[in-house]
Amino acid sequence: MIDVARVRAETPGCERVLHFNNAGASLMPDPVWEAVTGHLALEREIGGYEAERAAAGALAGLYDELAGMLGAEPDEIAFVENATRAWDMAFYALPLGEGDRVLTHASEYVSNWLGMVQLARRRGVALDLVPSDGTGQVDVAALERMIGPRTRLIALTHVPTQGGLVNPAEEVGRVAAAHGIPFMLDACQSAGQMPLDVGQLGCRILSGTGRKFLRGPRGTGFLYVARELAERVEPPFVDLRSTRWTGPARYELAPGARRFENWESYVAGRAGLAAAARYARAVGLAAIEARVTALGARLREALAAVPGVSLHDVGVRKCGIVSFARAGEAPSATMRRLAGQGINMSVTPRSSALIDFAERGLDALGRASVHYYNTEEEVDRFAAAVAGKGA
Ligand SMILES: Cc1ncc(COP(=O)(O)O)c(C=O)c1O
Repeated sequence: MIDVARVRAETPGCERVLHFNNAGASLMPDPVWEAVTGHLALEREIGGYEAERAAAGALAGLYDELAGMLGAEPDEIAFVENATRAWDMAFYALPLGEGDRVLTHASEYVSNWLGMVQLARRRGVALDLVPSDGTGQVDVAALERMIGPRTRLIALTHVPTQGGLVNPAEEVGRVAAAHGIPFMLDACQSAGQMPLDVGQLGCRILSGTGRKFLRGPRGTGFLYVARELAERVEPPFVDLRSTRWTGPARYELAPGARRFENWESYVAGRAGLAAAARYARAVGLAAIEARVTALGARLREALAAVPGVSLHDVGVRKCGIVSFARAGEAPSATMRRLAGQGINMSVTPRSSALIDFAERGLDALGRASVHYYNTEEEVDRFAAAVAGKGA
């Protein structure tokens, strides 16, 4: 059981706002803020390089924390500035060429899809869109049927940016393993919201970000690549951290996932991300998932009771992201109205979910995303505010 009073006391933002934008960027808990500002203070006092050296032990803890959170080994983790670049570093490293095929789904994150479109244009890679099943999640049986001799990658977003769907990643992982195809999972919205184990998920690549459900600082992200795969691929960019310069025209790639990192990075952010992963693990990811799922379900129920509100989350398993619209009010207007009452939510525009929204005949949607530090009272207050009864 999560001590909600305690986690709220450690989250000063709770006193200022009703924050249902955890899928955008969560409110930071004190230990994360202290790690970031503590490191920045040290940089100010003794110098940036010197501070990094002084904090080397603590900074190395980032790999242990993230590996522990994902059931991976520390050398299979890279620190990257955000989830998009993490995904890109792995995707563009894969030897995909003319005629190779990638299987993906309409819930794929916009920037990942754009990267795939770029490789389709540049290298003639073919993209196969797996249909949704009757519930709206990726149709795993159809995915298996669509695997052909040139299928080289399965790319899936675990929890999409635009709603509460949790795709059946483990089932997809089993299919991928049975066919010997690398499975790449975008866990940007699921990391920090639910337990993730790369062994169980069957993914060989996983990307995530710091600021969302993990409650880390902005400008931080991470990448997991299974060692055997990492050591067979060449990252799209190399520098003096991802390689060792061994001769004027020679270099050796860094072992494991470290080859996907940059030399220069947001060091205070690294400290903050380590603190965020430690904090999430201490709270307990199974307990987090249970509470977030329950609060999400309560919010759907409360919003369903508001006249004119439609709910749009699909799939069998739903998480803490709730997508909705109120008849006669644009989602951006709902967001502005609630912001005036100290209530945070966000909006997914059509341009962020083009294929999915077109398939479902949707334009923009409101997005309210709860976390474990939110309360039942906040859920009810949010629904009342959407209804227009004030906060
Ligand atoms: C599912 C999903 N993947 C990837 C991203 C991109 O994350 P970042 O902004 O850290 O690059 C997002 C951001 O909203 C997301 O929702």
